[in-house]
Amino acid sequence: MQVSVIGCGYLGAVHAACMAHLGHEVTAVDVDAAKVATLAAGRAPFFEPGLDELLAEVAPTGRLRFGTDPAAVAGARVHFLCVGTPQRAGDYAADLTYVDDAVAALLPHLAPGDVVVGKSTVPVGTAERIAAEVARVQPEATVLWNPEFLREGYAIGDTLRPDRIVYGLEDGPRGERARALLDEVYAAALADGVPQVVTDLATAQLVKVAANSFLATKISFINAMAELCEATGADVTSLADAIGHDDRIGRRFLNAGLGFGGGCLPKDIRAFMARAGELGVDQALTFLREVDQINLRRRTRLVDLAREVCDGSLVGVRVAVLGAAFKPNSDDVRDSPALSAAAQMQLQGAHVVVTDPKAVENARAVLPGLAYAETLEDAVGQADLVVLATEWSEYRELDPETVGALVAHRRVLDGRNVLDPARWRAAGWTYRALGRP
Ligand code: UGA
Repeated sequence: MQVSVIGCGYLGAVHAACMAHLGHEVTAVDVDAAKVATLAAGRAPFFEPGLDELLAEVAPTGRLRFGTDPAAVAGARVHFLCVGTPQRAGDYAADLTYVDDAVAALLPHLAPGDVVVGKSTVPVGTAERIAAEVARVQPEATVLWNPEFLREGYAIGDTLRPDRIVYGLEDGPRGERARALLDEVYAAALADGVPQVVTDLATAQLVKVAANSFLATKISFINAMAELCEATGADVTSLADAIGHDDRIGRRFLNAGLGFGGGCLPKDIRAFMARAGELGVDQALTFLREVDQINLRRRTRLVDLAREVCDGSLVGVRVAVLGAAFKPNSDDVRDSPALSAAAQMQLQGAHVVVTDPKAVENARAVLPGLAYAETLEDAVGQADLVVLATEWSEYRELDPETVGALVAHRRVLDGRNVLDPARWRAAGWTYRALGRP
């Protein structure tokens, strides 16, 4: 199938490479010439495990082309909209500039029978608006909403073997034709038995934000329990294990700590609240304000804890922050809890050195005022306090004796509840964590 992908960020670049891997002819476009040049040279413009290898695998087939000219999408039968919808500056709502620009660039190149497949996360109602614009310019083209659930760090596996495929379509023969075409694109996953939910446009758009809101709520729930644990001397990790055995609750996404960040959950819950307000049902999502607040409080709590273990003041304290990315296996620092806590500690007078296996360059671009170290050894050397802020496997597996030989004081804050307290304490460390005694 001839397909186009509009937007080559975390979603679009992975989607384009995966579609080419499946045998489709893919034309991917983006307005960012530097990003396009990197992709065209067969390299990923960001760190995503397996993406470089996938680009190298499909390059010799000639099935994947990158460019900046939107006219290149002409001839494709399915057009995937994969542009970002960040939070609007000074507002909770989503910034739809990139979506609107992408649609405007696509419209002149649509042919009868083409299907525009929306994958970007949008406020409910956007797909209907795009459908009206498409109908005005090319009445024989159709809009179908197909939300994306991939996680950074697992993006390729999530794209090739998603846990569900959701289509939002209009009723009638045109919707059915669009569905049949997209079924061809996803034939491999459908043949593998991936569950498919076919619904209307509004539901499909809501599915995505509902899923992310649920995940955010689950994380904030356990972090709220961590606050209770801190007040009572209880242990949130045991509590999560115990309630997680109930498979109605489930143990996944129940890890207490510094909370959620990244380019999706925080802005999605805020955009959802903003949209609910516009729809006159803001009360339905008031709880998401609390979810957001609980999440942000964890960052402040970690800084308070840092002050506590450093005898009441961070002034002049050398702090090594392990992790800058918003989660492991990613170089994404958007709304990173790790960087937020690092910056707050620096503002309180600490000398903060941040390290990360992949995200130092991105972090430096966002917060140039912090000090960075390329290696763990350089970061922890002579540290008065070590803060584990992103649970990369190399940090989870740290040996307390080896690190202990490098630091000035054996004090560790486990911001992700992944270290073994007994082992670190046995090695003479003051160990503190969020939600644990
Ligand atoms: C999230 C969703 O998980 C994807 O399904 C969705 O497609 C994506 O957003 C999106 O909207 O594009 P992602 O942002 O890659 O994916 O990251 P997650 O794995 O969901 O993690 C989000 C944050 O929650 C991270 O900062 C992570 O450290 C934190 N987290 C996660 C916790 O604090 N505790 C947990 O138990 C799990």
